[in-house]
Amino acid sequence: MSVWAILVAAGRGERLGLDHPKAFAKLGEDPLLAEPLRRLDDSDWIDAIVLVAPPGWEEPSILLAEELGCGKVSACVPGGETRADSVRAGLAEVPDDAVAVLVHDAARPLLPEAVIERVLAPLGEGWDGAVPGLPVPDTLKRVDADGRVLETVERESLYAVQTPQAFPAEVLRRAVATGGDATDCAALVEAAGGRVKVVPGDPLLLKVTTADDLAKIAAWL
Ligand code: CTP
Ligand code: MG
Repeated sequence: MSVWAILVAAGRGERLGLDHPKAFAKLGEDPLLAEPLRRLDDSDWIDAIVLVAPPGWEEPSILLAEELGCGKVSACVPGGETRADSVRAGLAEVPDDAVAVLVHDAARPLLPEAVIERVLAPLGEGWDGAVPGLPVPDTLKRVDADGRVLETVERESLYAVQTPQAFPAEVLRRAVATGGDATDCAALVEAAGGRVKVVPGDPLLLKVTTADDLAKIAAWL
């Protein structure tokens, strides 16, 4: 079974607000991108990696992968306007004989090996995808534009979903071919009628969105 990882790092990072893409924000000594790249390359579950770089940043991305000695990186392509476009660009580099594809946000640098294992396992049981999720701890309310509470939402069945997300390669290909957009890949698979399983996520998979997140993750390194 060959498992390919697509590392999507092509976002602009507008909410982080640097003058360069979020993937090249400093995390410890290295660019943010170094951490998830190294972890995917070290994973026993991953055979090959497609790196989706910020447009115009392909060269520094390839150099970084070389410096880190990431021998599994098989292609580096520029991303697109939306995250779904970037996934499509990455998937185009995954060969037809790939069995499973794992899509991961570079903005979630602290990728635990155990989570990779947890999202791949359900694929062997016939699921169309698996995603890490955490129960939502706070009380949730639906609120209108004036800030008025419309209702308190039942929390028991709600999960905050992370990456890495794993899919049989053919399932993901069909789902992204619809040309739809979504903030995660699972939503595209769900929209195509796929059965997606939630497995336990990890708080370490916090996404770098703002400068506070970056500081928090740097402290966890
Ligand atoms: N991503 C991507 N291509 C895009 C948009 C996002 O590859 N066109 C990637 C980001 O690099 C990130 C992940 O998808 O690893 C999650 O996106 P997000 O956290 O929203 O990152 P940005 O889009 O870069 O940040 P912002 O929305 O603040 O601009
Ligand atoms: Mg974004």
